[in-house]
Amino acid sequence: MENCSVIYVLDKNFNSGEIIKSYLEEFNLGYEVKIFSDYNEGIKAIKKDDNHPIVFVDISNDDKNSLIKTLETIKLFTSKIIITSTDYSTNTIVKAMRMGAKEFLPKPVLKQDLKRVITMFCLQQNLGDDTASKIITIYSNKGGIGKTTIASNLAIELAKATHDKVALIDLNLQLGDISTFLNLNPTFDVAYVIKNLIDKKEETLIKAFEQYKDSSLYILSDPNYIEQSESITPQEIDSLFTALKKIFPYIIVDMSSNIDPNSLKILDKSDWILFTTIVNIPAIRNAQRCLNLFRSRRYPNNRVKLIINRYMENDEIKIEDIETTLGEKVYWKVPNNYFTIMESINKGIPVSDVNANSNIANSFKDLAIKISDDIVEQAIINYRGR
Ligand SMILES: Nc1ncnc2c1ncn2[C@@H]1O[C@H](COP(=O)(O)OP(=O)(O)OP(=O)(O)O)[C@@H](O)[C@H]1O
Ligand SMILES: [Mg+2]
Repeated sequence: MENCSVIYVLDKNFNSGEIIKSYLEEFNLGYEVKIFSDYNEGIKAIKKDDNHPIVFVDISNDDKNSLIKTLETIKLFTSKIIITSTDYSTNTIVKAMRMGAKEFLPKPVLKQDLKRVITMFCLQQNLGDDTASKIITIYSNKGGIGKTTIASNLAIELAKATHDKVALIDLNLQLGDISTFLNLNPTFDVAYVIKNLIDKKEETLIKAFEQYKDSSLYILSDPNYIEQSESITPQEIDSLFTALKKIFPYIIVDMSSNIDPNSLKILDKSDWILFTTIVNIPAIRNAQRCLNLFRSRRYPNNRVKLIINRYMENDEIKIEDIETTLGEKVYWKVPNNYFTIMESINKGIPVSDVNANSNIANSFKDLAIKISDDIVEQAIINYRGR
């Protein structure tokens, strides 16, 4: 905790500095927050701080030359720079990032955005880089339940909601669908990355991913030929995750419904399993078996989240009955919307591009927000409990 103890807020507008301070104090992470409306004074204090502190710098209405000088100087003492600005044109953000800022927060700063950014910094500083990264696997032990639909739409919404780097990995090695669902024609695939790039530097590794339409989503598809996936071992899957955790705060995994050594490795390594079922007796019976398997593998309680796909309000089987049968609370319900989903799959676009106001597009958007909020919430609890 002591090497995370002071946060510096450089803001010419003292009131907006105060708002950031009050949020930070509310999160109760054990920081002292110092606000400076005189940047030179702020820089002097940062120079004396040996702990590579977190620094917020407001760049609204700043003239470019003094701004460059300010950031260049701060960069000598810490890399944890968060830029805030009332101007959130792409130009400003790009400019700030080029000058070495790690994050950009538009003003007025939203509590939730601040919480996310600060937690990531805090965790990276205190617990090592890869603990901040989460592997979120969409799984069902039954085929055709909606895993790929959920994985691809959730990944897109998570990138939109967090602006963080999100990886979407197709580990359904023999029957992957993600490149079809999102209409991609990838050059590289999971097998290639595992066999050739796993120990390469971040810059090289990330080039094997397809960046999705200028977003912060990066996709790695399944191999074109079944033979390429046959030789992949659980050990190699482990190494793949280790490498990806250094790059991506969120790793969304789509996989097959098989239970084999590779699948078990994926599930064992996942921080979250979005265990998906639909509301019918055979599916629920299968879900029950699978949850027993998870219990026998002693997965921590909060790893498995129950998702109901194709949910309909007036279904004969009630949610409470499912919860009682499975001994698990429902984490999220994705509504049944056959036409929007079919159009999305046929056109190779996410449901938000088919109809952003549809119940299903909203459901994925809200699910993404809930997941990122819950991860931050959990991280804060863990951080406090250290
Ligand atoms: N919420 C939904 N509402 C309506 N239809 C849905 C919904 N989710 C999925 N579907 C339908 O279910 C079909 C199967 O979905 P999807 O391919 O995502 O499942 P999967 O679990 O990945 O299958 P597989 O086991 O083959 O990989 C899709 O073609 C789609 O039509
Ligand atoms: Mg699938």
